[in-house]
Amino acid sequence: MSEHDRKGLYNLIFRTVFVRMDPENAHHFAFRFIKLLPVSPVVASLVRRSTGPHRSLRVETLGLTFSSPFGVAAGFDKDAKGIAGLGVLGFGHVEVGTITAKPQPGNDRPRLFRLVDDRAVINRMGFNNGGAVKAAGEVGRARHLRNRPVIGVNIGKSRVVEVDDAVDDYLVSTRLLAPLADYLAVNVSSPNTPGLRGLQELDKLSPLLTAVRDAAGTTPVLVKIAPDLEDGAVRRVSELVVELGLAGIIATNTTLSREGLSSDPSVIAKAGAGGLSGAPLAARSLAVLRVIRASVPSELCVISVGGVETAADVQERIDAGATLVQGYTAFLYRGPLWARQINRGLRELRRNRSK
Ligand code: FNR
Repeated sequence: MSEHDRKGLYNLIFRTVFVRMDPENAHHFAFRFIKLLPVSPVVASLVRRSTGPHRSLRVETLGLTFSSPFGVAAGFDKDAKGIAGLGVLGFGHVEVGTITAKPQPGNDRPRLFRLVDDRAVINRMGFNNGGAVKAAGEVGRARHLRNRPVIGVNIGKSRVVEVDDAVDDYLVSTRLLAPLADYLAVNVSSPNTPGLRGLQELDKLSPLLTAVRDAAGTTPVLVKIAPDLEDGAVRRVSELVVELGLAGIIATNTTLSREGLSSDPSVIAKAGAGGLSGAPLAARSLAVLRVIRASVPSELCVISVGGVETAADVQERIDAGATLVQGYTAFLYRGPLWARQINRGLRELRRNRSK
């Protein structure tokens, strides 16, 4: 079957099956398949042979080797249960979480909505996860796997904890997870936990990041920021990251903006509150990347995320200064061969460039 046929087949399955399912149920269905992939070593190695990124795509950063610049953004594997399967599908890293110190159910369902015409989704999941202790068990197991992707662990504030007590709450997760993670991402940018984005203000961010950095030992610490920060605030956060000697910045999380959407206003209204991700986020995410890169040294790891769908999108981010690139929403629209398509596309783009 050609690449074109494979894409067509997934499009057909998406339009006839997935689009009729509740998006969160569709996610759980797909996730079961991802978890099953590595169960049979023969199947895993056959799939890996076709999805595995070429050596030329390797990236060295954070003191680690990434097999591809492209990885899975936080929120897809909330409880760190799909790391091996996502690696088999060709992702160079998996950022698991957001994990909170306390287990929590998240917001009431429905809380995930497709805007198919915009190739976007709106979510107000609210950090549903089994908590840091359980996640430590999963990450601890996954880190011993052969051929595993790099494991980032994204941590956030437990909902029941007051914003004023956030530092101690983040520290509980840091102490449990930093020794097991390849890198730690401090999430201060999800829109679905009241008060969380307020932690991006420098007077709150500086003590938080200092405390996490000190508790994380030798594990690299990055901070994940919102696309809704103004450029000046992005610059100030970037300077703070450099001043504190952190390892990097992840930009961006989902947006509260609903500008420029082509979906029917009734569809957007029906989704209601939450963070928007996917194609409509691409322009702002790229702009934020440019502001960051202009404010930090070239060695600082900057992970660009938001609206990336094709290999050309990934290469555009790398050309704009991204060290690594992540994606989530287009996985829902492109299907299980998405990372493979990106890895192959990147290789082809680079081959054509060097001709
Ligand atoms: C997310 N995202 C996210 N980010 C984060 O730091 N912690 C999280 O728990 C989640 N959860 C989450 C759930 C869902 C359903 C989506 C769609 C997204 C944000 C995600 O990691 C990413 O930053 C944005 O989605 C932008 O990238 P894409 O989706 O446009 O490629």
